[in-house]
Amino acid sequence: MIASSATSVRVGHAALDRLRQALLPDGLLVDQEDRAHYGHDETEDLSFPPDVVVRPRTTEEVAAVMRICHEEGLPVTPIGGRTGLSGGALSVQGGVGLALDRMDRIVDIDERNLQVTVEPGVITQVLQDAVAAKGLYYPPDPSSRGSCTIGGNLAENAGGPRAVKYGVTRDWVLNLEVVLPDGTVLWTGANTLKNATGYDLTRLIVGSEGTLAVITKAVLRLVPMPRESRLMLVPFTSPYKACEAVSAVFRAGVTPSAMEFMERDAIDWTLRFTEGLNIQVPEDLGAYLLIEVDGNHADELMRDCETILGVVEAHGGGEVLFAETSAEKEALWKLRRSVPVSVKAHSIYKEEDTVVPRYELPRLLEGVKEIGRRRGFQSVCYGHAGDGNLHVNIIKGELSDAFWENELPAAIREIFQLTVSLGGTLSGEHGIGLVQRPYMDIAFNTAQLALMRSIKQVFDAKGLLNPGKVLP
Ligand code: LAC
Ligand code: ZN
Repeated sequence: MIASSATSVRVGHAALDRLRQALLPDGLLVDQEDRAHYGHDETEDLSFPPDVVVRPRTTEEVAAVMRICHEEGLPVTPIGGRTGLSGGALSVQGGVGLALDRMDRIVDIDERNLQVTVEPGVITQVLQDAVAAKGLYYPPDPSSRGSCTIGGNLAENAGGPRAVKYGVTRDWVLNLEVVLPDGTVLWTGANTLKNATGYDLTRLIVGSEGTLAVITKAVLRLVPMPRESRLMLVPFTSPYKACEAVSAVFRAGVTPSAMEFMERDAIDWTLRFTEGLNIQVPEDLGAYLLIEVDGNHADELMRDCETILGVVEAHGGGEVLFAETSAEKEALWKLRRSVPVSVKAHSIYKEEDTVVPRYELPRLLEGVKEIGRRRGFQSVCYGHAGDGNLHVNIIKGELSDAFWENELPAAIREIFQLTVSLGGTLSGEHGIGLVQRPYMDIAFNTAQLALMRSIKQVFDAKGLLNPGKVLP
């Protein structure tokens, strides 16, 4: 583990007493073990424990904490489910770790307006299940849905497989209650589907990675649960052919509700690492596409499947496996959701979250592999092919520490330059956080970065909220 060191801000006795008084009795943690627990997420093996962890239960407590930190000059890092992949929740300057896991109430499911009001600590899957019990659907579905929280999803603008048809977290947010760095509490918009009133603060806060304000409530949009879905696993000998089939499916007139890509190594490692998956992998498999369609009419879905079958066959797809039962569907989704943890279990790795316009996906994959061959690293790629979103996992394996520290950054830079040259950008859904910050100059010029810095300055003039993130 790599730990924070000299940059850490120590929280003095007076500030600690003020924080303790502002919180309910068990709302402040200073034990080494607790600080370590809240000091890491899923980003590589990084560890940056805050000096103290606060666990508020109400917006008023959050506001009090923010006011105290503002007055005392203490850095504050908001912490959600700690499943982030760019280090957004790491307390890189020590200070106060603001854990929102106790603010986990589903405040109101408004079935008349198809809206739900939640606190930030609600686990994404808990929300999905609660609205599903009423026949409603909240589509954003990150692989970590069983442990990530809505607050973290909002902060990072999380995506997941369903984004290709339903959009990312941002597309489901109507209104946010936030606490500004000085403790001011406000709502960003209105609970309406349309809103042409003033600047769109809601969309600005979503994806700002906890650097502008702390989200304490969110009003989210819902839709009726689709009644039917079909799920198929399509093998390809060539991963590039699989990527070429992706945009062809959309151009043939079908918008799948998921269109996922998994390279052979990702499959092999996941099958080795995950219990209870019984999937026969063809000898010559290069990659799978996992394709789902959903809707309310079985005959329509049947026609969509026929269209998809025609397209994948024309692109060299092999024998398609249809999930016939809900257990089979669950198994295929388990395979897909287990890929990130399986890759992590296999080796030290670095994960990039590249995204390009969908048609450029084969060019991105080819380019990444070519860079790897030339520079001497292995990569395992998977991701949300329908979004042009490729998770590139660079595997440490037998590579030396010296290569990893000194030569890899230039290789990553080259991958990002390729991505941007194809019309894409650095991150589709994991955020910039800590680890992608050094590459922001590839996506933005000086004027663009200056504008972003000015926005940060307006919200957080003292630079105390989630310092050391996003902006280089
Ligand atoms: C996924 C996460 C890593 O796609 O974004 O599984
Ligand atoms: Zn993903």
